Amino acid sequence: MIKHFLSLSSFQKSELLSLIERANYFSFHKNQPDKIHHLLKHKIFANVFYEPSTRTRCSFEIAAKRLGADVVNFVPENSSVKKGETVYDTLKTLESLGVDGIVFRHSDDNVFDQIHNKFDLPLLNAGAGKNEHPSQGLLDLLTLYQEFGRLEGLKIAVCGDVKYSRVAGSLFVAAEKFGMEVYICGPEELLPTLNNPQVKHANFDEILPKVDAVMMLRIQLERHESLDLDAHKYRSQFGLTSERVSKMKSEAIILHPGPFNRDVEIADEVVEHDKSRIFKQMSNGVYARMAILEWAMARGNK
Ligand code: CP
Repeated sequence: MIKHFLSLSSFQKSELLSLIERANYFSFHKNQPDKIHHLLKHKIFANVFYEPSTRTRCSFEIAAKRLGADVVNFVPENSSVKKGETVYDTLKTLESLGVDGIVFRHSDDNVFDQIHNKFDLPLLNAGAGKNEHPSQGLLDLLTLYQEFGRLEGLKIAVCGDVKYSRVAGSLFVAAEKFGMEVYICGPEELLPTLNNPQVKHANFDEILPKVDAVMMLRIQLERHESLDLDAHKYRSQFGLTSERVSKMKSEAIILHPGPFNRDVEIADEVVEHDKSRIFKQMSNGVYARMAILEWAMARGNK
């Protein structure tokens, strides 16, 4: 039985559906604290983020508090990391101090491979390098499920910095589980080599009218050593403008994990377009993470 939440690949399709349905339950009962506030009472989670975050860190904290748990927000910049303490020793210290689970983000793709076997408490992946961001994957699945009532057979275009995107990494895993078709678009140097039968390259303007959802991705300048990109040219080739939105299917939706750069990969007016579910994704982040924290506490040794 797995106890860490590290990758969507560790879950059966039925287990992912259970998490999605539980998150959906939390979204319906958000204004009924008597139904949910006792579920993780007396539990303490540590938020340990070695990379910046707004959505993931805050929504894990809010999720924990909605379930009655407490949260310690560990900030590496103000900690003994500055005195040379390693990641492993930092997490082991928090375990020794008695936290019940650690929500952890780091820039290293493989950071969990080296440490997860050494922890009794659940480790929850809040973003590992450019590898996976499974809690974002779950909230994206929840958003699609709420919209279409199913995941099987959905067609999704992903446009932008796909090669360096852990959000896309988790979506690709989910696509294989649920038989979704994912079409990746963007400058050639930002597209990964494909090894997943559910993921194909596509021309953005040609695929746009055929998909159920388009997921726009930010150019992650922080993950590129050098990138010679003309912003104006990028916007005209790959930006989601109102004109491009008008070519989407009537029921199709727009997704973006955030943070977004208005008027770069997505036009300012498209961010809050009727088709946009970007802020819904953020709200769903709390519900998806409530389901993840509850799942983790049902498996942890504590
Ligand atoms: N989507 C996402 O991971 O956003 P943050 O980096 O703000 O957590």
